[in-house]
Amino acid sequence: MSRAIQAVRGMNDLLPDSVGLWQHAERCAAEVLQAYGYREIRLPLLEKTDLYVRSIGQVTDIVEKEMYTFEDRNGESLSLRPEGTAGCVRAGIENGLLHNQIQRLWYAGAMFRHERPQRGRYRQFHQIGVEAFGMPAPELDAELILMGARLWRKLGLHGVSLQLNSLGTPACRADYRKLLVDYLEGQRAALDEDSLRRLESNPLRILDSKNPALQGMIERAPSLLDHLDAESAAHFGRLRSLLDDAGLAYKVNPRLVRGLDYYTRTVFEWVSGDLGAQATVCAGGRYDGLVEQLGGRPTPAAGFALGMERLVELLAQRGSQPHGGRPWLYMVLIGEPAQRRGVLLAERLRDDGITVECDAVGGSLKSQMRRADRSGAAYAALIGDAELSAGLVSLKSLRSEEAQEQVPDDRLTQVLRQKLAC
Ligand code: HAM
Repeated sequence: MSRAIQAVRGMNDLLPDSVGLWQHAERCAAEVLQAYGYREIRLPLLEKTDLYVRSIGQVTDIVEKEMYTFEDRNGESLSLRPEGTAGCVRAGIENGLLHNQIQRLWYAGAMFRHERPQRGRYRQFHQIGVEAFGMPAPELDAELILMGARLWRKLGLHGVSLQLNSLGTPACRADYRKLLVDYLEGQRAALDEDSLRRLESNPLRILDSKNPALQGMIERAPSLLDHLDAESAAHFGRLRSLLDDAGLAYKVNPRLVRGLDYYTRTVFEWVSGDLGAQATVCAGGRYDGLVEQLGGRPTPAAGFALGMERLVELLAQRGSQPHGGRPWLYMVLIGEPAQRRGVLLAERLRDDGITVECDAVGGSLKSQMRRADRSGAAYAALIGDAELSAGLVSLKSLRSEEAQEQVPDDRLTQVLRQKLAC
């Protein structure tokens, strides 16, 4: 036998047993998004590399070292999407969705980043992303945040908390950057290699460093929140009061800077203490300059993306166990006439919304019962000669000691619904 080929590191198979939780989360998210008037958009996995350089930023970890970039057969540089905002803005401009319009959009799918794989951090991961265009007021920022909170409630997740910050406008950030660089220059001896590099290119990212040795120095750094322009400060104040009115708790974190360069004003992260080092399950903010930066007319915008792997991990920890696509009923059919009747009966049950798997291999009762058990179904319906002539099935629980009972064909839906409480 030749050696089996393995998956690419950091890219996971989602096996049928876990897909049930994913589908549950996706369904709940789609319902919440719809309730706020968001519509789905489907976008390419590949874009021109330049799109990400111009949006996420040249000196960000994502663009500098995490993209899957290659030249196609025409020598054009393309990248697998590391996130969805840039592609969504590109599509909005290209298809005329943004100018003078209000758009509320969402997308779901795989993203790719060549990061060091660990718990909660993968090279292929999945996001549900939300992008809203044409609304400058903080009411939109509040809507995005309340939508997240509604989803956690719907999914029964309690320990997810909100961190909030404002990055102001590019102009006030530039002034603050000078202040910060002055401060950091005075601390040069304390900086690590990464921070020294960022001191020239992207000093705000130093505030985001996880290096414990730098935390004291970061704590004492001047805070951008103290240097916001008047309009940004008012925007942030209004957002906070909207969240207060809605009774939503949050923590202002002046060190929250995000790893993508396109943000202006509001940024936020939903964080859980149950995820280990990769604690952020959902993150986003406002990006009022990006549409223009990518060649569109000036258009205010904001959004967020939630990490599906992290969300599903939280659901699994809670013990959420949707049926996972397992059938409710497995048909055990002994002999050719029973097989013919079983297939028709199964079709009728499916018309009634019952999920049914029919044995399509045949053979002895014992071998069919073994397959019934392995299918994960809750019940087996047996049809042999005796059942056939009486118009019955023998219904047997595969998961409990419940006594086997005989049920007329036409009452099977009703009996199953009662037993399975659905
Ligand atoms: P992001 O913070 O880079 O933002 O990613 C959003 C979320 O995706 C993270 O909070 C995390 O849950 C998940 N995530 C990111 N990288 C990985 C990874 N390597 N493995 C597993 N999960 C991961 C964005 O992508 C922005 N586009 C969000 C946004 C939308 N801002 C405005 N609109």
